[in-house]
Amino acid sequence: MAAKPSVAKRLVVLVSGSGTNLQALLDEIAATGAEAYGAEIVAVGADRDGIEGLARAERAGIPTFVTKVRDHGSREEWDAALTGAVAAHEPDLVVSAGFMKIVGKEFLARYGGRFVNTHPALLPSFPGAHGVRDALAYGARVTGCTVHFVDDGVDTGPIIAQGVVEVRDEDDESALHERIKDVERRLLVEVVGRLARNGYRIEGRKVVIQ
Ligand code: GAR
Repeated sequence: MAAKPSVAKRLVVLVSGSGTNLQALLDEIAATGAEAYGAEIVAVGADRDGIEGLARAERAGIPTFVTKVRDHGSREEWDAALTGAVAAHEPDLVVSAGFMKIVGKEFLARYGGRFVNTHPALLPSFPGAHGVRDALAYGARVTGCTVHFVDDGVDTGPIIAQGVVEVRDEDDESALHERIKDVERRLLVEVVGRLARNGYRIEGRKVVIQ
């Protein structure tokens, strides 16, 4: 009997660090099965080597690639190389899971509306590279995480889902970030699965999952 064609959407995940959000996706897909989950990870990319995020992909037998800014003559050339490296895996969706680089015009022209980021704060508050530290320094009593589509601003794209985490008096950046990441991993797994299985449309700032 011919194999049933896979309906799983193809994901490329981009990382820069420990990759625990990537691991949550890997674990869910392994536990549920790619078809039931709706997506499979076909490659993991990074902007640096020697990181645990890449090691996690390698242990799972998933192809990896590294595209470093410093190996390219300009930011535009790096962006074009990253776009090409991602495109080689023909993804339906690209997930930035702790990828600490801002992509450029070429990447967004190709993957705009299909590029999902997770950020450790309740956007539009505390965008940028230090979302947890900035919320703590501001004295916010609640913070959390935001899964959103990437546009050409810094953490300004349409919001898909958010999770709330209370700030405790005794919190430092690391303790608060760990509690945010607990919520964030579950939210990312849930959101990526729903986008992949159900399809979605972006209407202005609203994301409608069918
Ligand atoms: C996550 O908390 C993610 O939101 C954050 O990096 C962490 C990556 O953790 N991303 C940003 O701050 C982007 N501005 P992980 O490597 O363990 O998945």
